[in-house]
Amino acid sequence: MRRVLCLSGPNLQLLGTREPEVYGRTTLAEIHDELRAVAESRGATVDCRQSNHEGTLLDWIADARGQADAILLNAGAFTHTSIALRDAIKGVGLPCIEVHLSNPEAREAFRRRSRIAPVCVAKVAGFGAASYRVALTAVLDWLDARDESR
Ligand code: DQA
Repeated sequence: MRRVLCLSGPNLQLLGTREPEVYGRTTLAEIHDELRAVAESRGATVDCRQSNHEGTLLDWIADARGQADAILLNAGAFTHTSIALRDAIKGVGLPCIEVHLSNPEAREAFRRRSRIAPVCVAKVAGFGAASYRVALTAVLDWLDARDESR
């Protein structure tokens, strides 16, 4: 059974009321419920967590070795600043998908640089709450294709 770890970073606990014109009105709890339903329909599991603390995210990534087959990561603003998160993803050696509700590259200049993109296998951005679902289904397909080609 595939196990996916879905991590959300700072301020994403505010989804639903935070800048709804940018991020929509779906709450993080609703996103997590949908991910669990999609995972179940695919015979997989998804462990969904959120933290405002960089160190907590780093610990969860490091601890994922042997516990998850892939990571979905919406690092929020840490996306644009955190070399430590980049090193953690690289270090754990698991496929990681960068996820964003908005399309950061179409926003302010400071959002155009992702520190984590170079160590992720793919990025899903701009689909609102659906970005998480798209990322989950895509990474499950990606894992199947990887294992078939081995
Ligand atoms: C975000 C985009 C980031 O630039 C921002 O700091 C966030 C949310 C997104 O999901 O669109 O907190 O990661």
